[in-house]
Amino acid sequence: MTILINILLILLALIILKLILISVFFFEEIKAAQKKDPASRSFLEIVLLYQGLHALIAYRVAHFFYKARFYLIARFMSQLARFLTGIEIHPGARIGKRLFIDHGMGVVIGETAVIGDDVLIYQEVTLGGTGLEKGKRHPTIGSNVVIGAGAKVLGNITIGDNSYIGSNAVVIKDVPSNSTVVGVPGRITKQDGKKIDVSLDHAHVLDPIMQNLEELENRIKKLEDK
Ligand SMILES: CC(C)(COP(=O)(O)OP(=O)(O)OC[C@H]1O[C@@H](n2cnc3c(N)ncnc32)[C@H](O)[C@@H]1OP(=O)(O)O)[C@@H](O)C(=O)NCCC(=O)NCCS
Repeated sequence: MTILINILLILLALIILKLILISVFFFEEIKAAQKKDPASRSFLEIVLLYQGLHALIAYRVAHFFYKARFYLIARFMSQLARFLTGIEIHPGARIGKRLFIDHGMGVVIGETAVIGDDVLIYQEVTLGGTGLEKGKRHPTIGSNVVIGAGAKVLGNITIGDNSYIGSNAVVIKDVPSNSTVVGVPGRITKQDGKKIDVSLDHAHVLDPIMQNLEELENRIKKLEDK
C-alpha cells in the first residue's frame, strides 16, 4: 500500500514539475493566449487544456531534434502531437515567438513555412505548398498576422506584417503589410486602414489578358534559359 502511495506521490510531483516548467518556458505564449482568446479564464486553464499550446510545446522539442538531424524522432514527435491535438506542425517549420493557435483542430503547417512573432492562427488553417515542388514551397508569414479559420495560404509567398487573412480565404499571391485579404482567390479589401473598392482598384483586379501575357513571358524565358 505504501509503495502505491509513494508511486502516486512521485507522479503528482512530476506533473507539478511539468506544469511549472511549461509555465516558465512558455510564459510569453500563455500570456499571448490569455490576451487573444476572450474565452480564456485563467493561466492554469491554458496550461492544462489549450491544444494550441500543447502542439507548440511538442513542435519546439521536435524542432530541436530536427535541427540535430534526428529526423525520424522529430517526425515521430510531430505525428504524436498531431494525434493528441489535431494540429500538425512539421518539425522543419520555423516559428517565431508568441504564436497562438486557437481551437487548432485541422491546422497544418508545412516543412518550409516561416512564421514571425505574435501570429494568431485559427482552426483548419493550412500553410501548405501548391504542388509537388521541392525546396522552399510554403509561405512566409510576417509578424502580428491573423489567419482566419479555414484559410489556406499556399506556395512560397509572403504575407506582410500586421495583415489579416479572412476565414476560408485561399491566398496564393504575396500580400503586402497592413492588408486584409478575403475570398477565393484572396483579394485585398483593406490596406493601411483604407478600404479598397475592388471594382475601382485596378492594381488588385486580375486582368486575364495580362495574366496570359505574363504566362507566355514566363514560358519564353524558360525556353531561352534551356
Ligand atoms: C476578414 C476579417 C478579418 C474582417 O476584416 P474587416 O476589415 O473588419 O472586414 P469587414 O467586416 O469590414 O468586411 C470587408 C468586406 O469583406 C467581406 N468579408 C469579411 N470577411 C470575409 C470572409 N471571411 N470571406 C469573404 N468575405 C469577407 C465583408 O462582407 C465585406 O464585404 P463588402 O465590402 O462587400 O461589404 C474577418 O471577417 C475574418 O474573416 N476574421 C477571421 C476571424 C476568424 O476566423 N474567427 C474564427 C473564430 S473561432
